[in-house]
Amino acid sequence: MNKNEFNILRDRIYANTGIKLEDKKKTLLETRLAKRLRILNLNNFSEYIDYLDNATTLEEWNNLVEEVSTNTTHFFREEAHFEILKDYLKQEVLSGNKKIRMWCGAASSGQEPWSLMITARRAGISHSFDFKLLSTDINRTVLEQGRKGVYNSKEISSLPVEFKTKYFSNNGDFYTIKQSLKPQAYFACMNLKKSPYLMSGPFDVIFIRNVMIYFDNSLRTVIVKECKRLLKQGGLLFVGHAESLVAQLVDGFEKVAPSVFRKL
Ligand SMILES: C[S@@+](CC[C@H](N)C(=O)[O-])C[C@H]1O[C@@H](n2cnc3c(N)ncnc32)[C@H](O)[C@@H]1O
Repeated sequence: MNKNEFNILRDRIYANTGIKLEDKKKTLLETRLAKRLRILNLNNFSEYIDYLDNATTLEEWNNLVEEVSTNTTHFFREEAHFEILKDYLKQEVLSGNKKIRMWCGAASSGQEPWSLMITARRAGISHSFDFKLLSTDINRTVLEQGRKGVYNSKEISSLPVEFKTKYFSNNGDFYTIKQSLKPQAYFACMNLKKSPYLMSGPFDVIFIRNVMIYFDNSLRTVIVKECKRLLKQGGLLFVGHAESLVAQLVDGFEKVAPSVFRKL
């Protein structure tokens, strides 16, 4: 891949997803896309760019995005957030809130949304409660993994035994999220770069964690503004610990804990 080809691909990735690839990521992009060239039987990156330009569907574009998105995640990542969420949900139920909506905006392979579902159950939200969790991501492949909710023993190794038995069915090395958790969990592909977002809200809680680190401040501002629009008054926005400054980009939030913000 020459510098010009890198710049063309990098500019398109940035314009369409907000993901910023620095100069030092050229080799990484080259390595990851070499696989696409082999699969498509193309000789070089110039042919790959032509292929993208002439494609009549978004299929290859989606494949490209999947190669550049980082999907690192794990169950109950940044654990303190889940305790804060549990207390908030308990309080909402106690104070008579009969309809709770949550959005997880960079759900990756599902460990975060299923941690949210488990937390909702622990807060007393049963399968019959009017509760919905919408989980979205730009990467269709990881989203599908999330929807299935199947993990190996290594992936769930950090969970307490009680959670493993209560919320998963075990088959050999595989653990599947129990069916009883699934009807209130919805998965959909969504690009945070494309605003305004199509959901109607209002959400009681939004989790957008460990994704804004890949974006610049102008996109972060758009995302936080959209979260503010979609949250109910008093609703909570959770961001990643490395993103704790983002809510300050937009007025109308108060900080209630590290990287947790309430809409005023
Ligand atoms: C590092 S993972 C974080 C997963 C989870 N939120 C967590 O904290 O463990 C970042 C996720 O953001 C998704 N992502 C990246 N750019 C995106 C975009 N423009 N729109 C939606 N999702 C995006 C990636 O596909 C990836 O699954």
